[in-house]
Amino acid sequence: MPVIYPISSGKGGVGKSFIAASIGTLFAKLGKKVVLVDLDLGASNLHTLLGIKNPKNGLNSFLNQTVKKLDRVAVPTIVSNLFFINSLYCSMEIANLYHTQKLKIIRAITKLPFDYIILDLGAGSNFNTLDFFSTSQEGIIICTPEPTSIENCFRFIKAAYLRKLKQIIKRHAFNSAVKNTVFSPNKTKMEAPDIIDVVLKHDPDRENFLKNKLSEFKFKLIINQFRKNIDETLGDKIETVCNRHFYSNFQFLGNISYDERIPESVVSKNIYVNKYPYTTSSADLKKITEKIIKSRRLTSQASKVS
Ligand SMILES: Nc1ncnc2c1ncn2[C@@H]1O[C@H](COP(=O)(O)OP(=O)(O)OP(=O)(O)O)[C@@H](O)[C@H]1O
Ligand SMILES: [Mg+2]
Repeated sequence: MPVIYPISSGKGGVGKSFIAASIGTLFAKLGKKVVLVDLDLGASNLHTLLGIKNPKNGLNSFLNQTVKKLDRVAVPTIVSNLFFINSLYCSMEIANLYHTQKLKIIRAITKLPFDYIILDLGAGSNFNTLDFFSTSQEGIIICTPEPTSIENCFRFIKAAYLRKLKQIIKRHAFNSAVKNTVFSPNKTKMEAPDIIDVVLKHDPDRENFLKNKLSEFKFKLIINQFRKNIDETLGDKIETVCNRHFYSNFQFLGNISYDERIPESVVSKNIYVNKYPYTTSSADLKKITEKIIKSRRLTSQASKVS
């Protein structure tokens, strides 16, 4: 089974595409077969970070049925084992991404024949991003240490959690009173903890089921563009707060130091971890990659036992 890691954020420009390209490269260097999928529809630029000029035949060819299987549009990159699917020509589709097209993309992604599938998503809480983020039980959220970025990160976490919670309630046999309350148009402002109260009140038998389902989701957090004068424990604090307030599992993966050579690598169309493998930021990225692999191993061991 491939492992899918969607990467998103509450705020734009925090380093999602850079981190997707870096983690993808590091997985590939460990001998894993990896595909990076640019799903920032309408604002895609991952190809530039990978040094690929004018990629052809991407997601658009799959959506307009020129190509029947999504893996046919995966192209090799300069890193062996690392492949790429672009969405450069999907700008026209973004306004018209029908629910059926979204499902078609999600279904095709889950069938891609790779060990690791990394999805570079847009920022913010629009439904396309949240649904692509929900493709997997293990999503990665990026923020910077700036208060505005952290604020938007919490907003994104809440929106993603709520979307997952609603999916569970919709799909499984919850009391109709719960469904009506959760999906009522008058309750648009209802937040995740309120919904748990609704379930407890109307459907107490399903409380444990809901909590167990929610605990299957593993949110991972990375703080990027980290500078020396910032509180080293910031990520751990966010992890603690989230684990206290939500029934899902939150794991802080680590900080990635700020390095001016990162934008310079983008300008010169080099993959940073390839060009500068021995910098502090590359060491941070390697540590994070190892932590992801370790947590994956623990998850699959746990699922074999249960
Ligand atoms: N650790 C870092 N140190 C210095 N610069 C960085 C770091 N990480 C990313 N950058 C720079 O920040 C800018 C934004 O990065 P990137 O495009 O990866 O962000 P993004 O979250 O994908 O943006 P968008 O929301 O527009 O898709 C780029 O110029 C990149 O080179
Ligand atoms: Mg990006």
